[in-house]
This record gives sequence, C-alpha cells and structure tokens, in this order.
Amino acid sequence: MSRYLVTGGAGFIGSHVVDALLLAGHEVRILDSLQPRVHPRGKPAYVPEDAEFIQGDVRDEHAMARSMKGMDGIFHLAAYQDYMPDFSTFLHVNAVSPALLIELIVRERLGIEKIVFASTQAVYGEGEYLCGEHGVFHPGPRPLDQLKEGRWETLCPQCGREAEWQLTGETAVSPYTAYAISKYCSELAFLNLGRRYGIPAVGLRYSITQGPRNSFYNAYSGVCRIFSQRILSGARPIVFEDGKQLRDYINVEDVVRANLLAMEAGEADYRIFNVGGGKAINVIEFLDALAGAFGEAAEPVLSGEFRYGDTRHTVSDISALRGLGWEPAVSLKESLERYVSWLLKQPDARSIRYVEADREMRERGVIRKGSAG
Ligand SMILES: NC(=O)c1ccc[n+]([C@@H]2O[C@H](COP(=O)([O-])OP(=O)(O)OC[C@H]3O[C@@H](n4cnc5c(N)ncnc54)[C@H](O)[C@@H]3O)[C@@H](O)[C@H]2O)c1
Repeated sequence: MSRYLVTGGAGFIGSHVVDALLLAGHEVRILDSLQPRVHPRGKPAYVPEDAEFIQGDVRDEHAMARSMKGMDGIFHLAAYQDYMPDFSTFLHVNAVSPALLIELIVRERLGIEKIVFASTQAVYGEGEYLCGEHGVFHPGPRPLDQLKEGRWETLCPQCGREAEWQLTGETAVSPYTAYAISKYCSELAFLNLGRRYGIPAVGLRYSITQGPRNSFYNAYSGVCRIFSQRILSGARPIVFEDGKQLRDYINVEDVVRANLLAMEAGEADYRIFNVGGGKAINVIEFLDALAGAFGEAAEPVLSGEFRYGDTRHTVSDISALRGLGWEPAVSLKESLERYVSWLLKQPDARSIRYVEADREMRERGVIRKGSAG
C-alpha cells in the first residue's frame, strides 16, 4: 500500500485514476481547485469519500505543500485547458506548477519517490510528414491562406505537393498552441529538474481521451462532446474541413492503466510515452460510431469551416509503451457506448448549449470559413 496525491483528481481522467488507486488498496489524497469552467456545480458526486479531498490551486505553494506532505508518489493531472487566448494562464497553471512541485520536494525534503504526469499529443503540433521527393519534415501550422482556399492536406514546403502523414513517435515535438507550449514546458521541468535532483518522473502524452465524467460544461469541448450535444438536441453535427482528419481516440480506462504502469515500472523513469488508441480514425467515421452509440444515423453538415490551429492528422506511435506490456483494450465502439450511456443519465446533459462558446470562437477568429464551403 502506498500513499498517492492526485492533482486534478476531481476531473475526468484524474477521478478514474483515483478510483483505480483506491481499488488497488492505496491511500489517496486529491488536490483540485474545482475550476468553475469544468465544475460549475461544485464538487462532483463521484469524488469518493474514501479519498481525502483538498480544494486548492496547484499554483498555491501552501496548498501544494500541504497536499504533498506524507505522500509516496504524485499523479499530476491538474491542468488548464481551453481554446481561448488567455495564454499566460496556460503557462501559469501548466508550466509553473511542475516547477513548484519539484521545488517543494527539494526544499522541504519531501519523501516523494516518483511522479507520473499528464502531457498531451498536442505537443506534436502537425506531427511528422513524408514528401516522396524531399523526405521527412515536421511542418508548422497549415497557413491560413491555404485553409481559406479549402486545401486541407499538409504541403511539402519545398515542392508544394501534398505530403504523407506519418505515425508520431516521441522524439520530435512542435508545440504551437499556448496549451501545447505549456505542457511541453511541464515535461522539461519534470524530467530535467527531476533528473538533476534524483526524483523519477514519467510523462504520458495522451491522445484524445473518452469516457464517462468528461465534463460537458467546458468550452474546451472535444468533438465527442460537441457532436453528442448536437445529436441530443436534434441538430446535425457540423464537421470542419472535409471530415477526413485522422485521430487515434483512446478510452479513459486504457489511460488509467498506463498511469498505474508508469508509476510501477522502474524502466519508465525519466521517459515520455505516447498513450494513444493505436488506430487512425477519421472524423466522419468517428461521428458514425458516435451516432450509432445513440442509436441514430449520422447526418453531418460539411460546412467548409475550419478551426484555425487544429491539426490535420494526429496519430501517435504507441510502440514504446507497448514495450512495457501495455496495450489499449477498449474499442472505439465500446468506448463511445460507455460515454453515451453515462451522458444520458446526466440531468444537465440536454440543457447544455455550446452556442456561447461557439460564438466566442467565431468572434476571436478560432472558427473560420474556407472558400470550398
Ligand atoms: N481529456 C483529454 O482528452 C486529454 C488529452 C491529453 C491530455 N490531457 C491531460 O490530462 C489531464 C486531465 O485532463 P482531463 O480531461 O481529466 O481534464 P478535466 O478538466 O476534467 O480535469 C482537470 C482537473 O484539474 C482541475 N484543475 C484545473 N486547474 C487547476 C488548478 N489551477 N489547480 C488545481 N486543480 C485544477 C480541474 O478542476 C479539474 O478537476 C490534464 O493534464 C490534461 O492536460 C487530457
């Protein structure tokens, strides 16, 4: 039996980590600020009585010191996630808190033996591409003018021809949103300061994660939440670009197993691992599967719009984590059925409207229209 702190333990993924730790017989403490955009109704009922709960901010030295005292290990999942341009908040929450956490361990000589922290696939930006003539390259964001013309695929910067997307391994990163930059900073702080002071840390770059408890209040709404809301309200889901963007969705249960394995496995120390679904699925296929989980047929609207800053294809190579014996086990169909069955039991689910978030994203130029639409 060990004692673990889970920051962000009232959130979607953190709460499932908490449940798994309790089930395995560990002692658990949660530090969570109950961020209003995620938890407008306060502390969720699913937060277990058996876990000690501290409401506090990971940027607050006193709350952090109090939460870390007496713990053997930390799962750091608290994070600021949004599409809005308050860039400094991303850095304050996501990059400063890891530095503070290491600082407190060193300064207060806390007996923390290991840290497992949540990073993200977003650090890859557009990922890796191959041009038949000019080889492998790591593009920046697709230019706005190209998107306005409705040309969605990534082009070789040398010959301008469409390039082929590649599975994204852990080596090359290209973070270009405030969120991705802040998460990459967190990796550097945990791994490099951790190594320097002999505090083993493991970073997990999750792909888009799905399952029950995924907050449907937050404006940082993944495609699953937005499509679900449209289906629930009888509206046709709006698909950006041409719907052929590829992602490798993963279920929260598989992410939880990766967290526990990373904490247990000594060979994972000071390393970064992709945690993805292992299958490339395009947005239309995803919508079909989601509509199926609602018992309906998908009727997407291809509006010709795009969200500036979205990546075209993002599919992680998961062979490194497979090397530790991990494998994603929950299929997309099963994952979506579990999500939908949970969602339908939530009293608020039908009344949530994305209209405001959607309008704000349009006003701020996050959502735009290409000429092809
Ligand atoms: N959900 C995904 O698809 C996904 C993908 C990649 C990475 N991640 C990462 O996984 C982690 C968990 O994400 P999630 O989807 O469960 O998000 P979530 O929003 O459901 O949970 C995050 C929790 O952190 C808390 N929190 C936010 N700011 C805080 C602060 N300053 N101090 C203390 N607590 C704070 C929130 O109240 C919330 O309970 C995050 O680090 C996120 O960046 C998530």
